[in-house]
Amino acid sequence: MPSTRSIEVLATAADLFHTAAEEFVRAARAAIGAQGRFTVALSGGSTPKALYSLLAANYADFAWNRVILFFGDERHVPPTDPDSNYRMVHESLLTKIAVPAENVFRVPVENLDAAAAASDYEAQLRRFFELQPGEFPRFDLILLGMGPDGHTASLFPDSAALDERSRLVVANWVAKLNTHRITFTFPVLNRAAEVMFMASGADKADMLRQVLEGKSLPPLPSQRVQPSDGNLLWMLDEAAAAKLTR
Ligand code: 6PG
Repeated sequence: MPSTRSIEVLATAADLFHTAAEEFVRAARAAIGAQGRFTVALSGGSTPKALYSLLAANYADFAWNRVILFFGDERHVPPTDPDSNYRMVHESLLTKIAVPAENVFRVPVENLDAAAAASDYEAQLRRFFELQPGEFPRFDLILLGMGPDGHTASLFPDSAALDERSRLVVANWVAKLNTHRITFTFPVLNRAAEVMFMASGADKADMLRQVLEGKSLPPLPSQRVQPSDGNLLWMLDEAAAAKLTR
């Protein structure tokens, strides 16, 4: 499948999340039709919460029993912590849809050893996708956000995880946050059938122009998401896209 990159600009944040929800469901229906299941990695942070709430509100009767949910990254905090991506997804989506518990793969953050938690999560991916050594999973859809420094998932500029080539999941030390984050690596992101970035708000405009139109050396983490055999979709609202050349 030839790789494509497309940028969709919606007038408002509400339009952005409606269109993102439609794309999520379109991709889910296509995967379920073709393979009987839809594998998706959810993003964290604040932006996707509105998407998850919309999916719960408008698609509660969707075939969630065919949807397999992973997390593209997680903060190394308990699942009840306000900073937890799992908690955000649990409150905005999981408590409102009939998804079987066994379809939800959260990062085992209870393990205080972040590296061990990452290895455990990698083992869960390898088991679920029945991977041979050296193989990478192919998600039907990976959701991503972009931070003000151009990071995505928990792949931050100048962090060790940027250079990972063989692991699926690593514990990435983020010096400026003084903590580990557990994150998918670029080989996993770039094997996806589809990657959908969502960015909303004027505070993302400068970095979006740099990421989508600029040349950074080394490339910014968000620039390194280039599915080798899949679609790359940037979903933006007008405020976020305000500085793009169009
Ligand atoms: C996380 C995310 C991270 C996020 C960006 C954007 O765990 O924080 O996975 O990559 O997508 O930081 O965050 P906002 O959506 O809050 O701007």
